[in-house]
Amino acid sequence: MKIFTRLLIFLLAFSTTVLAKDTRIKVELPQMMREHMMSNMRGHLQSLEAITRHLSRHEYDQAADVAEKTLGMSSLDTHGASHLGKFMPAEMGRIGQQMHRAASRFAVATRDAEIDGGLNKAFAALSDVMQQCLACHAAYRVH
Ligand code: HEC
Repeated sequence: MKIFTRLLIFLLAFSTTVLAKDTRIKVELPQMMREHMMSNMRGHLQSLEAITRHLSRHEYDQAADVAEKTLGMSSLDTHGASHLGKFMPAEMGRIGQQMHRAASRFAVATRDAEIDGGLNKAFAALSDVMQQCLACHAAYRVH
């Protein structure tokens, strides 16, 4: 094997091991909290599915309602956010807050879309919500 090929293989192997390394911060939660949080998470994914389905049918009000009630500022109590928040690193809690705010902004953008028919802003606002999911998932783990 040529030295160049060997070098290339070494670099590739090296970079995949390094890149694949799990650099997320582990957050220690009491088991009940962790289970509660994971059940919230599965609910979040369900909400995203319901929201996209409603948008595809131009059901703006329903999409806005799901977002506000299940992900937005109105959902904080049902998610036990104030209680859970005490166990999280400050930055993680901040991302969570950002997600709730973004979801409430999405609800507003979607009700606007009902009026002017432009779904672009609604989707941009939905993407803002999902960016908070990604930011938190990239940084933290509980298992
Ligand atoms: C503030 C942080 C945070 C935010 C915001 C967040 N998540 Fe999570 N999510 C987590 C953590 C931590 C885990 C567990 C990861 C691990 O331990 O491997 C998780 C796990 C999940 C799981 C797996 C649940 C299971 O039962 O295994 C799903 C699905 C999920 N999140 C969806 C979402 C969606 C959708 C959003 C956005 C609407 C979101 N999450 C926003 C932190 C967050």
